[in-house]
Amino acid sequence: MSSKYNFPDGNTTLQSLLGSFKLVKDPISYLSGEMEKFSGTYSGFMPDKGRVIVTQNSDLINYVLRENHTNYKKAKLDTDLVAKQLGTSLLFVNGDDWRRQRRLIQPAFHHAGINQLYETVMKTVNGYIDNLPLGEQVDVYPLMRELSFSVLINSLFNIDMSATMKDELGRAFVGLQAFMSKDVLQPFRRILYPLTGEEKKLVKQWDAIRDMLREIIALRRADETEHNDLLAMLMNARYEDTGQGMSEHQLISELLILLFAGHETTGSTLSWLLYLTASNHQVYEKLMGTIGETDMHNAPRNSYINAIINEGMRLYPSVWINERVAINDDEFSGFTFPAGTSILTYIYGMHRSEGYWENASAFDPERFLNSEGVIDKNIKNYFPFGAGPRMCVGNNFAMAEMAFVLHAVCKKFHINTTGATPKAWPLLTLRPSEVILGIKKK
Ligand code: HEM
Repeated sequence: MSSKYNFPDGNTTLQSLLGSFKLVKDPISYLSGEMEKFSGTYSGFMPDKGRVIVTQNSDLINYVLRENHTNYKKAKLDTDLVAKQLGTSLLFVNGDDWRRQRRLIQPAFHHAGINQLYETVMKTVNGYIDNLPLGEQVDVYPLMRELSFSVLINSLFNIDMSATMKDELGRAFVGLQAFMSKDVLQPFRRILYPLTGEEKKLVKQWDAIRDMLREIIALRRADETEHNDLLAMLMNARYEDTGQGMSEHQLISELLILLFAGHETTGSTLSWLLYLTASNHQVYEKLMGTIGETDMHNAPRNSYINAIINEGMRLYPSVWINERVAINDDEFSGFTFPAGTSILTYIYGMHRSEGYWENASAFDPERFLNSEGVIDKNIKNYFPFGAGPRMCVGNNFAMAEMAFVLHAVCKKFHINTTGATPKAWPLLTLRPSEVILGIKKK
C-alpha cells in the first residue's frame, strides 16, 4: 500500500486473499463480520481491483453516491458479458453519455407517464394472480419473478405478444442470469469458454432476441394507432441537443436493460415481502384490515402498504452491494485514496446496522410511519434504490407494481409460512433460493 495515501484500516493483501474464499462462499456473513471488526469501513485487496474500500457507513455512501458523485463512475462490471449481450445502455454508461441517455429516458418514468401504465400493470397482475397455484408448499419465488417479467413485458410492449415469444425472452434472461452467476462466482471458468462454447451459445441466443425486438419495433413503426406503453414513450423521446430519437440499436439496448434491471429486482423483493408478511402475524392482520379498506387502484398511495414494502427492502435490498470507482484522488473524513480506487457500498450492512436502526433485524414496518401513521419522508440510512443522480429510474414504477401485487395476492388468498426460512442468495441481486409458502383461496 502506498504511503502517499491513508486508506482506512483493514486487511493486508494476504489476509484479503485468504478471506476471498469465505467471501465467495458466503459474502454476507464474511462482509458483515469484517464490518463489525473494522467498525463499518475497511480496506482490503482484490486481485482484479487492487486496494478497495468496503463500507456500510451511511455518510461515506452518501458522499460517493450523492455529494461528490461527479468524482465517481460506475465500475466495469465484473462480468462484461452483461453489457456485451445487452448493449451499452443507461445502466452501464458514464459521464456525458449517461446524462444524455438519462435525460431522454427519465420522462417515461415520471408520474404522469407511468400513471397511464398502471392499468396495464393491474390487468397483468390480476390475470396472473387468478391462476396462482394453490397448495401447502408453493415456491413463490419463480412465480413472482415470472409475474414481474410479464408486468414489464406488457408495460414495454402493450401488444399481444405470442406465448412462444414471451417464453423465448424469459428463457434468455434466465440463461443470462445463470451464466452470470457462475461467471461472477467462478471467474476462473472464463478460460474454458472457448472450449465449452457457452459464450458462443449465449451470443447466438441474444442475437435472436435482438432480431425479435427489431421485428416488434418495425411493426410498431408501421402501426398508426396510439399506444400507451414504454416502447411508444421511448420511440417518441428526442435528445435535447439534436432533436433526434434513439437509433434502433440504442432503443433495443435500452429495452433490454429495462427488462434486465426491472424484473429480477422486483421479483425477488416481492418474494421476500410475501414471506415477511406471512410470517409476522401482527403485520399480516393489519395488512388485511388495510386491504379491506383500500381498493387496488389506491394501493400505491397507501402508507401501510408502502411501509411494508420499505421495510422489506430494508432487510432484503435487492441491490445489496454496489461499486463506484474514484475518477480523481479523493479524501473522506481523514482517509485519502488514489484515482481508480473502488468503493464498495455495502447497503445490506447499512440497512441492518444497529447503529442506524433500533432492533435492526426485526421486521417492523411501523418504523417507516410518522406519528400520524403516514409515510415518514425523513428516513435516513436507507438506499434500496440507490441515491443521487443515478438512483433507480424505475423506482416509482417498482413501488406501484409491488403495492398492486401485495394487495391482489392478500385480497384473494390466505398465505402462511411453512416454517422454512428462505436462504438469501447474494448474486448480482439478493435473491432468495426459494420461498415456500402455503397458499389458499379465500
Ligand atoms: C424492487 C425493485 C428495484 C430495485 C430494488 C432497484 C434498485 C436499483 C438501484 C439500487 C439502482 C442504482 C444502481 C447504482 O447506483 O449503481 C438502480 C438503477 C436502475 N434501475 Fe432499478 N431497481 C428496481 C426496479 C427497477 C425497475 C422496475 C426498472 C425499470 C423498469 C429499473 C431500472 C433501472 C435502471 C435503468 C437503472 C439505471 C439508472 C441509471 O444508471 O441512471 N429498476 N435500480
